[in-house]
Amino acid sequence: MNTDRIRQEIPLTQEVIYLDNASTSLSPQPVIDAMLEYETHYRANVGRGVHRLSQIAGQLYWDSHETVNRFIGGEGGTSVFVRNCTEAINMVSHGLTFRPGDEIITTVTDHHSNLLPWYVLREKGINVNVISPAANPMAGITAEDISSAITKNTRLVAVSHASNVLGTIHPVKEIAKIAHDHDTLFLVDGAQSVPHLKTDVRDIGCDYLCFSGHKMLGPTGTGVLWMAEDSLEPLLLGGGMIDEVTTDGYQVSSGYSKYEAGTPNVAGALGLRAAVKYLNSIGMSDIEAHEYVLTGQLLSGLSGIEGVSIIGPPEGENRIGVVSFMIEGLHPHEVAHILDDQYSIIVRSGHHCCMPLMQHLGLPDGTVRASLYLYNTKEEIQTLIESVKEIVEGV
Ligand SMILES: Cc1ncc(COP(=O)(O)O)c(C=O)c1O
Repeated sequence: MNTDRIRQEIPLTQEVIYLDNASTSLSPQPVIDAMLEYETHYRANVGRGVHRLSQIAGQLYWDSHETVNRFIGGEGGTSVFVRNCTEAINMVSHGLTFRPGDEIITTVTDHHSNLLPWYVLREKGINVNVISPAANPMAGITAEDISSAITKNTRLVAVSHASNVLGTIHPVKEIAKIAHDHDTLFLVDGAQSVPHLKTDVRDIGCDYLCFSGHKMLGPTGTGVLWMAEDSLEPLLLGGGMIDEVTTDGYQVSSGYSKYEAGTPNVAGALGLRAAVKYLNSIGMSDIEAHEYVLTGQLLSGLSGIEGVSIIGPPEGENRIGVVSFMIEGLHPHEVAHILDDQYSIIVRSGHHCCMPLMQHLGLPDGTVRASLYLYNTKEEIQTLIESVKEIVEGV
């Protein structure tokens, strides 16, 4: 993998050590060029006209969906473009019909975006069971955790593929089997997995996969809801999503259009298409291997520093490059501030939109979190380790 070339295409990598990729990633020049090209040369609405600009934009917009669908092995299913992973999950919670007494299982390791859209259904008499890892809380959710919680009333299991705090990878394939053996739908929150791990929805066997385009080199304001069948009720109604409208009613169209009422984020979609092509040109297995090495280096470096504790699985375990840690005697925000101010290292601190997990772990102030991507280097990781050492020595 030619990290130097990638870094040349992302100018910010020359200015800071960017380690907040779990929050959002940086976009390489080809992604920005794709959006600029649309704005400059064929800016038009899509699916709404026969003129030449609309034809070009419409064709590329359609191809963006196809490109994303192929990227996750989702041919035959539908990839809908949304603003972010949060919107995708909300579309599912809104679009399914639940009855009082139905049950939804999610987990304490999940992001607020995979909790609140389910919590709101409690008002309608739906039982939302937020389960915790029975074994080691740092090791994430296991298939046994799901199988011991699932009941005949469970309608949906919603679990993240990878934790944005612990870095754990959850056994989604096994969970899908358990869910389907119980005639239960399975939603995977792929916000932290799709950008980093080769993903195949058919292999996983999920019904819904939600993820963020902006965490995988794509523009902000992009996300995807993939569904095996387009049977959800659409969240929005209006232009662009119908086959016919009369004074009496309307007939919605099928496929992604059904879920994309109104003028979509065309530039964002074309940027996301370019991002997927970029990731494909490098190869997801090479990206995964690169990040695995850097993650090992970071975990081994940080765990060797007295006063630093890692919140998550140790080096060598099946995990992603999200590394949460604490420095004894310092608030996580203080650490993040010093890293930025004195070392130009960008990390996130706090609860990472996972307050229930922080309560479960007994970490009211949250953690410091360094999260990697394909453009990070061994030198950058070493700088982070050395900087943390200096901060610890100064406490
Ligand atoms: C696991 C997980 N799920 C959902 C989200 C929400 O993503 P978005 O901000 O794109 O809606 C995030 C964002 O950090 C996440 O890490």
